[in-house]
Amino acid sequence: MRIISSVAAPNIALIKYWGKRDDLLKLPINDSISITLDEKALASTTTIVLGSKLKRDTFILNGHAGPDAHITEALLLIRRRLGKRHHIIRKPILLISDNNFPTAAGIASSASGFAALAEAVASALGIRNRREISILARLGSGSASRSAFGGYVRWKMGKRKDGEDSFAVQVSPRSRWPQLADVIAISSAERKKVSSKSGMERTLKTSELCHCRQEHVQRAVEKVAGAIRRKDFRSLAYLTMRDSNAMHATMLDSWPPIIYMNDTSRAVVEAVHQYNEKAGSLRAAYTFDAGPNAHVITTRKEAGKIARMLKGIRGVRKVIVSGVGEGSKTIPTPQKTKQLIARILHK
Ligand code: PMV
Repeated sequence: MRIISSVAAPNIALIKYWGKRDDLLKLPINDSISITLDEKALASTTTIVLGSKLKRDTFILNGHAGPDAHITEALLLIRRRLGKRHHIIRKPILLISDNNFPTAAGIASSASGFAALAEAVASALGIRNRREISILARLGSGSASRSAFGGYVRWKMGKRKDGEDSFAVQVSPRSRWPQLADVIAISSAERKKVSSKSGMERTLKTSELCHCRQEHVQRAVEKVAGAIRRKDFRSLAYLTMRDSNAMHATMLDSWPPIIYMNDTSRAVVEAVHQYNEKAGSLRAAYTFDAGPNAHVITTRKEAGKIARMLKGIRGVRKVIVSGVGEGSKTIPTPQKTKQLIARILHK
């Protein structure tokens, strides 16, 4: 029997992924680029037990036992990929996963959750190649492929049908530019009405603007990668805001329209523009994923001021500040988890 635990943080995309060329393998239609967040601020901790005598896969997510279609699909794909080489992964698995942030806070937990799962599976099977870990994470959720690395990360779309060239690479380690922060303003605890999976499908099928964004997005990735290497915050901030706005424009242009941003999100957009105007330069950049919560990218020096500003905006319920993180890794299994495993397996 093998018991392995891991931790992974979410990441925030500066140039986004919104559209797949292969739904099952989660192959994107463009490269994307992100900052991995700090697991001390936001993290999924996952433990897997391989080779137990359980009769079926068992999941305990945030303390609740029950089925999960998304994890079941990811495990199917992971087994298909690794099962021939690693017999032990074919047997029923016990998976225990907890987020250190409330799932209902509206922060996507799929990136950190699937990155942590990939890390644990790889480690249990002795796989150390980070590219392989990124591919395993991608099979769970596209954006999770980026959380396998720390610092500043690019997910290459790849060209191959089998997805073997679609994985993340590190653009720059945290240590080269540790000064950035993500100040997250949570304005809604609701689960999103349109999942990213169906939202992407709808945008790709129905939005005309989507094709227009596609013409520029690959160049934007190159520019942001360059800005990261030069530690050029202003360019990074400008390109980040433009791409968030462009992606949300394609969502609104979908039919029926998809609207993730709310009044509070729009108030944050206004406030960040005012803040930058007053400062006379770009000191902060907003970006929104498939939900209303604002991520404001700034420097650690500025983060306190930004957090206070966001707290003053109507509808903001909670503000979380995260630095740049180191990527997924294995950890010793927590004592409490060991006790839970013993209880489940000896029942
Ligand atoms: O990987 P998913 O299915 O959670 O999709 C993520 C999509 C965005 O968060 C909106 C953009 C991105 O690149 O993270």
